[in-house]
Amino acid sequence: MAQTYKELHRPQFHFSPEENWMNDPNGMVFFNDEYHLFYQYHPYGTTWGPMHWGHAVSKDLIHWEHLPIALFPDELGAIFSGSAVVDWNNTTGFFEKNQPGLVAIYTSAGTYPDSDRPLQQQSLAYSKDNGRTWVKYEGNPVLSDIAITDYRDPKVFWHEETNKWVMVLATGQTITIYTSLNLKEWEFASEFGHTAGSHDGVWECPDLFKLTVDDGQEKWVMIVSIGDNGQSAEGSRTQYFIGDFDGKTFVNDHDDTTILWLDYGRDNYAGVSWSDIQDGRRIYLGWMSNWRYANQVPTGVWRSAMTLPRELTLSSTADGIRLFQKPVAEVVSIRKETKKYAEEAGAIPLPSSLMEINIEFEKESSNQFGFVIHHSVEEKTVIGYDAAAEKLVVDRTKSGDHRFSTSFPAIQEAPLKLNHQRLKLRVFLDTSSIEVFANDGEIAITSLFFPSEGSKELSIFSNEGTTKLRDVTLTELYSIWK
Ligand code: FRU
Repeated sequence: MAQTYKELHRPQFHFSPEENWMNDPNGMVFFNDEYHLFYQYHPYGTTWGPMHWGHAVSKDLIHWEHLPIALFPDELGAIFSGSAVVDWNNTTGFFEKNQPGLVAIYTSAGTYPDSDRPLQQQSLAYSKDNGRTWVKYEGNPVLSDIAITDYRDPKVFWHEETNKWVMVLATGQTITIYTSLNLKEWEFASEFGHTAGSHDGVWECPDLFKLTVDDGQEKWVMIVSIGDNGQSAEGSRTQYFIGDFDGKTFVNDHDDTTILWLDYGRDNYAGVSWSDIQDGRRIYLGWMSNWRYANQVPTGVWRSAMTLPRELTLSSTADGIRLFQKPVAEVVSIRKETKKYAEEAGAIPLPSSLMEINIEFEKESSNQFGFVIHHSVEEKTVIGYDAAAEKLVVDRTKSGDHRFSTSFPAIQEAPLKLNHQRLKLRVFLDTSSIEVFANDGEIAITSLFFPSEGSKELSIFSNEGTTKLRDVTLTELYSIWK
């Protein structure tokens, strides 16, 4: 495996498994100075198959050390998505007296006896050695409901105010909330979402957490991924709700017709946040792909990568409170060399395919401005702003290989107003992905692309008029893989 992490399209500063198939991030938890990342993993092939939990750890959320597979399928089925928590007070009794330990809560995806009919139930596993080895609880499953077919992806957290564990679980096209004192016995609390938000596909991978808004009030955010229905152009994508939560019931601040998208690009799905981070940050990670074509993307011995870990915050905007996101501060550790450019549009040769690009435009007479990343002579990705339509656009229709799926060529659009006539873009360019954060993280567009060569040049444009360039700063980035 001499070529590992050097192959064509191999992400250089995003997490990807050494080989074989990966989907959702799972069981993210911070414990004893390590960030754990588990993930949906098929170790015997580069397409989706019987799910295991792969495992990696990091000290800084940027550099990752691969560890052996944590959870293998068993008589209850494959190991679908779920979460992990630190059981600080040994509520489970799994640990020695007064010792905390890690507990994973995941979906056992099996079938009914003598049948092909799916049976999804929730199970526990625990680790007394910082996640290195896991024991499955002998009382598994801990939660079943034979009436519901899609019954999965438990995300669990400790709710201080009521002194209880809370689980949010995807249940068909709703999120069901359960509570527990010991993670083993669960009680139904409420069900959310029958008529709220988008119901384009099956609801999956929920998350629920509290954030303080920039005006000081506390709000709860519920994240819900929605599966691909085969029809909508976007495939699978992720929505969120803002509201209140009393330990039992989530009350949506918005009316049912309001849909808030977490990311306007095609390639950010099934993301959830880390548990037990002690410094107050809420950090999120998504799977950087889309069920529409995830099994077909033209990568080599591996399939799929994660997004950059992102810090989530709530801020007030003209439209109301919205979820903002930015790459975690630790990302500066991979900055290599930074260069500022003068205030004139033009072509700038790129020293590398791995770049952080910071560009700020001030609108003058032009209604269409942005920049183009040229990969090869024919292949380019366009990041543009349409001031008349008030939209940010990432166009990957000419970015490279898209023969593997007719759904892949895409113009990805996000509604965005200028901020005092200014558009501030922070962009992370890897070998086969681009993450665009606009106006301090008000919107994000995450997009894959598969050019035949590395990125060579960046050219800034203002069509039919002028813009002022307030900032053009390009930073070459290091690979995180040795
Ligand atoms: C989301 C998902 C989850 C499920 C897992 C299976 O991408 O469909 O709902 O647990 O993937 O791999």
